[in-house]
Amino acid sequence: MNQHLSATADAAVPIGTSDVPSDVVRLVELKRRFGVTPALDGVSLTVRKGEILGIIGRSGAGKSTLIRCLNGLERPDSGQVFIEGREISRLGERELQPLRRRIGMIFQHFNLLSAKTVEENVALPLKIEGRPRAERLERAAELLALVGLLEKAKAYPASLSGGQKQRVGIARALAARPALLLSDEATSALDPETTRSILALLKDINRQLGLTILLITHEMEVIRSIAARVAVIDAGRIVEQGPVWSVFADPKSAITQSLLGGIRPQLPAEIQSRLTRTESGEAILRIDVAGEAARQPLLSDLAAAVPGSFRLIHGGIDHVQQQPVGTLFLAVPGNDANHLTRVIAFLKARDARVEVLGHVANPV
Ligand SMILES: Nc1ncnc2c1ncn2[C@@H]1O[C@H](COP(=O)(O)OP(=O)(O)O)[C@@H](O)[C@H]1O
Ligand SMILES: [Mg+2]
Repeated sequence: MNQHLSATADAAVPIGTSDVPSDVVRLVELKRRFGVTPALDGVSLTVRKGEILGIIGRSGAGKSTLIRCLNGLERPDSGQVFIEGREISRLGERELQPLRRRIGMIFQHFNLLSAKTVEENVALPLKIEGRPRAERLERAAELLALVGLLEKAKAYPASLSGGQKQRVGIARALAARPALLLSDEATSALDPETTRSILALLKDINRQLGLTILLITHEMEVIRSIAARVAVIDAGRIVEQGPVWSVFADPKSAITQSLLGGIRPQLPAEIQSRLTRTESGEAILRIDVAGEAARQPLLSDLAAAVPGSFRLIHGGIDHVQQQPVGTLFLAVPGNDANHLTRVIAFLKARDARVEVLGHVANPV
């Protein structure tokens, strides 16, 4: 690891406190209202040192307001914002200045200065700090090497691709050796392949520098590929949080389920439209397994243990943070209620979650 890039080298001086707290961010009952709309409605959350925490929510959920409260661009109506142990929500502009240097930020639309070269953009935070030119250029070169863009140092942003612009944005955000990197929809304007490369870079930086990252997105795929923990925000409230794999395996809230909809198996629409509540025809089962339960030969064991047939309609096992997380849809003949009961009992005994979604009259 490059000595110069160590986030801990001169980052070990927290503002105004003598001890180094393990929570980089702690929010307590944060509220912010615009007119009658509460943008934040009592958010409590911590971001631990060195982790990547993802916050996911739909448009208008309060994500950007939350991030703006962290760097003092927005003041909460009530509640507290602790950055490295120091409460900042009532600080004046002058006191906020050193704090803002502790926080780097990247944006959906990159926010680069088009009249400045790539290296000038990267060095800008250091220029604002009044650092000498030679030091600024040296640091810019280090950072451009880190993000793989050294050969673009003298180029202008207009000549770069979206992914390259975001790499410059990341380099600039790291210039002042922040303790925390905030990312507000930083990959939302990028194609899937470029998104993957930017997320891989952020993960690398997290590992190499131990940099704490708070990443905000409306895309579950982004959370899945980079975050270890996730918090789901809806209408200004944290409705659910936990390790990413466990939220994927067992989403508690309807909003989380709907955010997962695009990347977790769903009952095919043509079967969904034929589901009825009358208990005749085939029963359609949804089976969710995770962890140990997903490592077993569940279906072959079911076939061996319970006489009578069943059919796999759709589904599969996925891997999230090295944990298997699976959803299977089965059709079970409905002419023998005991058979269905035995199938469900067997699956539950294997720690699967089982739900009878309904019945379809004719085989699907
Ligand atoms: N400066 C503002 N003035 C008025 N309403 C705002 C302002 N900023 C945000 N809001 C409202 O607060 C809610 C949350 O917005 P925002 O934090 O931008 O959500 P997100 O980033 O999740 O899309 C929305 O209803 C939005 O319209
Ligand atoms: Mg936003």
